[in-house]
Amino acid sequence: MSIWRIHGGKSLYGDIKIQGAKNAVLPIMAATIITGCETELINCPQLSDVEAAMSILRHLGCIAQRDGDTVYINSHGMCRTDIPHELMREMRSSVIFLGAILARTHEAKMSYPGGCELGPRPIDLHLEALRSLGADIYDSGGCLHCSDRGLHGTRINLSFPSVGATENAMLAACAAEGETVITNAAREPEILDLQEFLRKLGVSIHGAGTPTITIDGFKPRSVVGHRVMTDRIASATALCCTASSKGCVTLKGVVPAHFETVTDALEYMGCDIERGRNSLKITAEKPLRAPKPIVTRPYPDFPTDAQPLLMAACLKAEGTTVFTENIFENRYRHVVELKRLGADISVVGRVAMVTGVQKLVGAQVSSADLRGGAALVTAALGAQGETVVYDAGHISRGYEGLSEMLISLGADVSVTSED
Ligand code: UD1
Repeated sequence: MSIWRIHGGKSLYGDIKIQGAKNAVLPIMAATIITGCETELINCPQLSDVEAAMSILRHLGCIAQRDGDTVYINSHGMCRTDIPHELMREMRSSVIFLGAILARTHEAKMSYPGGCELGPRPIDLHLEALRSLGADIYDSGGCLHCSDRGLHGTRINLSFPSVGATENAMLAACAAEGETVITNAAREPEILDLQEFLRKLGVSIHGAGTPTITIDGFKPRSVVGHRVMTDRIASATALCCTASSKGCVTLKGVVPAHFETVTDALEYMGCDIERGRNSLKITAEKPLRAPKPIVTRPYPDFPTDAQPLLMAACLKAEGTTVFTENIFENRYRHVVELKRLGADISVVGRVAMVTGVQKLVGAQVSSADLRGGAALVTAALGAQGETVVYDAGHISRGYEGLSEMLISLGADVSVTSED
């Protein structure tokens, strides 16, 4: 078990480079199998989810190798169409491979992704989109069997702008005959990065970043290179850590527009924010006040992934912050742990009310999920004394070198692996 020990109360100062985006690299890795091409992906974070995606690619018969932050994939030799249960279980978002495998081989078999730490994880919208493109899908004993006799372009109207369903539809539509139009598509920046990669693959696609994405035609290329976008949630994490501990930190290589709702909230709370073209500086020296109500919704609204992080940064802010979590049913598991540090939080259904306290005191806490784990670290940086975060392995699913980064900024953090 991975355990973090944090002695709070040290302010953070310095410059940091933010990692490549987990949620961008995973669908791009799936997209590499659409043709048998060679791909070089630069700025790939070293994360357990990325390693899991590489294992899936190898299982399918592709070559997937890492050299530093570059991942090389050659999908020419792809010879399987199934993903075994162990690999599906390792990374729940592996369902993103469904559209890509179907596009390449016209058949796919994988176990049904179960629920996850955040609550049920239905894939009805993914399946509906693939069916409307012409896929025949049935479920037998918890296993999904998909096949098609040639996918055809169509109009797909998503009833909710699901990120994963949009990506799956984009990937399968690459192999469809004729034009596909996806309406009410997710608009997250990661969807734009996928579009950019698909264009490099030779796909004629436009509209990503708006609610309507059109895919029409594919002239496959054999060698593709791509630099993965910077992780906007890792950026938000660094900002919230600085707000919690106080200090002054500059994020390099970021796109400030990607996490504007988070910086706007922090600015309202009393942090000074200086936005550059590819950098952002936060100065958190004044006492904080509660931000306006935070409501999570699809991009460009406030991201659900940043909700636990901002909550951790609000624990000592004067006044009451009201959070409404609209995306995932079970995304307040960090609350009970934050309360162990002395936080004043009450939850009723989707709403959490955080009333600022004078001080937080270190405690023993357990991480239940990725962003919840990072939220405990964020809060611990602003607490007096030692906080021990158990089950912190979740954190490595989404952050590369988070402890090293915090240490480089002056935090007192150590991470051990214990049985
Ligand atoms: C992605 C991100 C995740 C982020 C989420 C929302 C990746 C790898 N993960 O997850 O970090 O928190 O977007 O921004 O990119 N839903 C359905 N049916 C479906 C699909 C989704 O009901 O077929 C529901 C989900 O249960 C959830 C909501 O829609 O309540 C949002 O899910 P979705 O946008 O699909 O998130 P993911 O793609 O799974």
